[in-house]
Amino acid sequence: MSADSALRVLLVEDDPDEVSLLLRGLSQEGFLVSAVENARAALHRLSLEPVDALVCDLNLPGDLRGSDLLRHVRLRPEPIGFVMLTGERDVATAVRAVKDGADEYLLKPSLPSQVAEAIHAAVRGRRKIAEQEERARRAEDAAFLAHYRTVRALVNSLETKDLYTRDHSRKVARYTVLMARELGMAPQRLRELRIAALLHDIGKIGVPLSILHKDGPLTDEEWEVIKRHTVDGAHIVGPLTQFLPEVREVVRHEHERWDGRGYPDGLAGTDIPLGSRLIMIADTYDAVCSDRAYRKARSRDTAIEIIRQGAGTQFDPHLVPVFLRTVHLFPDPAAERADVAPTPRLEDAAEAHGLA
Ligand SMILES: [Fe+2]
Repeated sequence: MSADSALRVLLVEDDPDEVSLLLRGLSQEGFLVSAVENARAALHRLSLEPVDALVCDLNLPGDLRGSDLLRHVRLRPEPIGFVMLTGERDVATAVRAVKDGADEYLLKPSLPSQVAEAIHAAVRGRRKIAEQEERARRAEDAAFLAHYRTVRALVNSLETKDLYTRDHSRKVARYTVLMARELGMAPQRLRELRIAALLHDIGKIGVPLSILHKDGPLTDEEWEVIKRHTVDGAHIVGPLTQFLPEVREVVRHEHERWDGRGYPDGLAGTDIPLGSRLIMIADTYDAVCSDRAYRKARSRDTAIEIIRQGAGTQFDPHLVPVFLRTVHLFPDPAAERADVAPTPRLEDAAEAHGLA
């Protein structure tokens, strides 16, 4: 609402004399005032209509006190001014109320003009806080975008280096999100997981082309270089951690196996981040269904069978059923086959080392 229109005030008070005094007095001060007797009724009212400020007695009948109502109000997204009224001449109570988010604190009895002043101050203060939070959120979004663009630039250069990765990363991200949705993952975590899946192989940017595109079997030294892409990837996405706290760990552990035989840290079971466990399945599915320099893509049924058989060894046995429930949503790999030149992939190296 605009600053000029009348403020909507909800009075939460059980003393009828106080209610009639304040209803009359605050209406005369230009507020749109209504009253309820207890905190539950106030919460119900808040769920039905917008309120700019609450004037609330600390000692209310029922199971919720004024301080409980205050905590509920502060969990709500809208900026609501809160004026606490109490008969207790108790400084400790006042301090606690303000700590919990009360904007103003008045001792009863207070004149309507004093309450009106407190309401205006509370609403002004709350709106100012809301504006500051909004500015901070925008700055954070801008900083996040700046970091994300930097990482995307790296992804682009990796894609130039290895065309195959582009399609692979996008498909892995799509499959990972489909499974995470089936798990009921919250939207914010889904967004983060999608980014982690898109970036899961970003560390390959540090792998020399001669190894990345090598046709023959890899030496042990080359294999060590390949394995480093997980640690390098986690390092590259590190600046995103401020905004996406899970991304770094998910990228670092995307090649860990359920039985602990993966890399880089040999984590096992649920010590492996959930996102990494999902990416492991999506990654394998896409690897099996994709063309290789030395072999054609295998069928979706083959991929499903490989993942089914890997439950409890390579893959989280609780997530394999989730994969089986969602795989029909994955696009048909034969139709999806991109017309990019196939190149050797990390997963082939893993196969060669018995780790895929
Ligand atoms: Fe990888």
